[in-house]
Amino acid sequence: MRVQATPVDLIFSVILLVAQVLAVEGKKCPSACTRDITGCRSGGGKIIGYCVNGLACCDLTYKELATCGETKAGIQAINFISPDYPKLHSADLICSFGFVLMEDTIAVKIEFVNITMDGLGFAGNGAGCDSDMFILKGFKTWTPPPLCGNLTGYATIVERTIGSYRMNQLKIIALMSSLNYSWKIKLTQIREPKRVKRPNSDPINMQTNP
Ligand SMILES: *[C@@H]1O[C@H](CO)[C@@H](O)[C@H](O)[C@H]1NC(C)=O
Ligand SMILES: *[C@@H]1O[C@H](CO)[C@@H](O)[C@H](O)[C@H]1NC(C)=O
Ligand SMILES: *[C@@H]1O[C@H](CO)[C@@H](O)[C@H](O)[C@H]1NC(C)=O
Repeated sequence: MRVQATPVDLIFSVILLVAQVLAVEGKKCPSACTRDITGCRSGGGKIIGYCVNGLACCDLTYKELATCGETKAGIQAINFISPDYPKLHSADLICSFGFVLMEDTIAVKIEFVNITMDGLGFAGNGAGCDSDMFILKGFKTWTPPPLCGNLTGYATIVERTIGSYRMNQLKIIALMSSLNYSWKIKLTQIREPKRVKRPNSDPINMQTNP
């Protein structure tokens, strides 16, 4: 007995396989299957495909990602990623990302989750930054040195009140010109604990030692 798939059988089974994968993905839609595509987008979500019932799958986890040119507000944590992350990128790039801080945010934790870029690293305090670098902005009177190199695993905390100027937005500017770079930076707002909440209008109460 010969069991051999003809080309027609093969095409048929490929189609079946694709149909099954789609069905599985439909069940796995991470957020919600919806008819309201505009509502999904305006809520910060992204349509990532279609559910088995034909409705659009709205992925709201997407709103925790941002890339070049974006400004995000109203969320506590965000991952700022390079274009095409996790793939490497290589065009010359000047890119900025803005994170609008909440009223009761007292500091922002910046975690360099996965970084590939040129340079000697933060230990060089900017001295080794040549082709690629990150610059933190948000303060009138304080500019930290640029960061570069293998920052993977490095984390830092930026306090909100530095030099009595209260920033409303933390900006990261990425200047890149090497052949291979990519980044994923997690920013988390640290908010004032509710128990000791003080009036936001009193800047003295927000003062912390840099
Ligand atoms: C880290 O970035 C590199 C280079 O872009 C990528 O190949 C790798 O998959 C990333 N690692 C993780 C855990 O995402
Ligand atoms: C970057 O640093 C991390 C943590 O120290 C290390 O695990 C990793 O291998 C380094 N990557 C490169 C490309 O040197
Ligand atoms: C970096 O980029 C160059 C040129 O595009 C490429 O030949 C090389 O393989 C890349 N290196 C890595 C580690 O991806």
